[in-house]
Amino acid sequence: MSINKKIDELKNSFISDYESLKNDKGNPTSLINKYLGRKGLINELYKFLATVDSKEKSIAGKLINDFKNEVTIAINKLNIKEKSKSNSENLDLSLPETYESVGSIHPITLIIDEIKDIFSKIGFSSIYGPEVDSDYYNFEALNIPKHHPARDMQDTFYINENLLLRTHSSGSQIHFMENNSPPIRILSPGRVYRNEDISVRSYCLFHQIEGLYVDKKVSFSDLKGTLEYFAKEFFGHDVKTRFRPSYFPFTEPSAEMDVYWGLNSESDYRITKGTGWLEILGCGMVDPEVFKSVNYDSKSLTGFAFGLGIERIAMLKYGIEDIRLLYEGDARFLRQFKK
Ligand code: DAH
Repeated sequence: MSINKKIDELKNSFISDYESLKNDKGNPTSLINKYLGRKGLINELYKFLATVDSKEKSIAGKLINDFKNEVTIAINKLNIKEKSKSNSENLDLSLPETYESVGSIHPITLIIDEIKDIFSKIGFSSIYGPEVDSDYYNFEALNIPKHHPARDMQDTFYINENLLLRTHSSGSQIHFMENNSPPIRILSPGRVYRNEDISVRSYCLFHQIEGLYVDKKVSFSDLKGTLEYFAKEFFGHDVKTRFRPSYFPFTEPSAEMDVYWGLNSESDYRITKGTGWLEILGCGMVDPEVFKSVNYDSKSLTGFAFGLGIERIAMLKYGIEDIRLLYEGDARFLRQFKK
């Protein structure tokens, strides 16, 4: 048989193999092996070339090369199809899942971020105070001298006679005022520590956000307006708030702000002690004694301060019944909180 005839035959058989493969019959790998493999039909043709008359060799060689190129191009086109096909063919459903574990933001951080956002819209910036602080910043400079009964309200972890784990975020007011001059509008979020029995409702560490506004002519109505704005932004515009007189050594007058939570369920009765109202923060006008300790002129300056407990708000917002869940780092619990 002449080489031309052989090539024509092979061409026809390739075309029919190729067409049936395009119609999803047959396997591309076996097609490649059949024609282009080491022991494939095209290599057979090259072997046959050896028997061809030397005058015809170069023409026959070119015909085989051309045919091989056509086959290669056709198969390359198939190859793309073959790859995607083989991917799904190679799926091993018994393999374990490959996790792409994306972390989530801790509920305490979510609340702090939300509150920071709300206050940043009215010009409050965030600062951070030290968690290990001295007796002076945590108590003395806030008008809580040694043996003051207010110290009993905050069971303190002492590191030594002078150093302690801060019991509230209010000391960060002093640090900031010592190093900055008014006007001041700051928030200071962070951890605080108290030596309390651990239970469903209390833990030895928790989080507060301190707020401080100092300028000329800051009034109690500024304090009310600011905190009412916050409550509306955070709890919704129809929230009801009330201020009750209270006592803190570092503010005069002092108050606590409640939001109306309602009495719709048994747990509402429990958390609001049957009143429907929920205390969310302490606040007041900065006591002139505090200004004295940071060398501010208490005649020309006034200010207000407030301190907010984060855990209670987080527990209410997310319906968390046991405060300890917030500190255990259990991924199953934490994974629920997505922004
Ligand atoms: N430091 C207080 C506490 O931990 C909360 C507080 C009350 C902070 C009144 C303030 C304030 O800045 O003005 O109970």
